[in-house]
Amino acid sequence: MIVPDLYSIRMRASASRSHLSGAERLVPGDRIDLTVSELVRRARSKQVAPDQIVVTIDALGAIPVHAIPSLDLFSLTERDAAACRHAAVRALAASGVSLTAVETAFRILDQGAAPGGGSMRGAMIMDAASGERLEPDRSRGLRVTRFDWNDEASAQIDRELSRLGLTHFRTKEALALASKVCGAPGVVAELCWSDDADYTAGYVASRTQGYIRFPVMKQMGVASGGRVFFVIHAGLDMNTLVSYLQDEPVLITSIGKCQAADVLSSGAE
Ligand code: COA
Ligand code: AMP
Repeated sequence: MIVPDLYSIRMRASASRSHLSGAERLVPGDRIDLTVSELVRRARSKQVAPDQIVVTIDALGAIPVHAIPSLDLFSLTERDAAACRHAAVRALAASGVSLTAVETAFRILDQGAAPGGGSMRGAMIMDAASGERLEPDRSRGLRVTRFDWNDEASAQIDRELSRLGLTHFRTKEALALASKVCGAPGVVAELCWSDDADYTAGYVASRTQGYIRFPVMKQMGVASGGRVFFVIHAGLDMNTLVSYLQDEPVLITSIGKCQAADVLSSGAE
């Protein structure tokens, strides 16, 4: 669909050349000023003060916008890291990712996926069968941008997430990102946990299983993490995939069901 007067507003903040935070919105022209100040406030709310904040505003003009629903969300209450990881492995397998690829992904994320260890600036792209890494640049990876909730879906998901006690902005943003990723041509699943040492949660997402949130994917204080997009390699058009994830605007216009779960039941498998 064409959405008249829509803008992509993206913020990134850094200190001593190291990335601190980033966030983005898709908003109508009359909300640019408010959105810029919200994003700048967000950049300044980190414990470390940024020495650079970059805000980019692009008019989308006649670029078509994909309207999609958000994935169904399952929030696991299990707080044991080993049990969470075991459930994540099962969810990935049920989404069509081989055990070899799952084990490779966990090993690389634990070690640090960038060359020499440490975090990448984006996501790995991994063959869901062989575990081979396909992203052209192993430091950068692929970064998903130009996605947001429309007003109605945003209000609905806020209510649902708050009912489940998931009020951290990360969950809403990660669910939006994963909903875009799982709609991409060739992607079968995503695995993520944060590289923030103070944030232990992570998720597995796929079209068939939904977005499954695990509260503890690593021990507190551990700074390794990242994202993996598992793809069907045969017939994959990398340019189409990159262009969809990186450039094509996606608005979430309706929400999936959201529920808490003790263990993964058939609804999420
Ligand atoms: N980590 C490290 N460096 C980053 C970064 C990240 N997440 N995002 C941007 N940078 C730095 C890099 O040096 C990058 O250069 P590169 O392309 O060679 O890696 C440079 O900033 C410019 O990045 P670019 O993507 O062109 O910036 P942008 O201003 O257009 O968009 C973001 C920046 C952060 C808004 C966007 O990349 C993004 O991640 N959007 C999604 C945000 C979100 O909702 N995340 C949810 C996570 S739960
Ligand atoms: P975060 O969820 O912000 O803690 O990010 C965890 C990891 O996801 C980062 O270390 C990056 O490797 C990767 N990442 C961050 N932003 C993006 C993005 N927009 N698209 C894909 N991967 C990202």
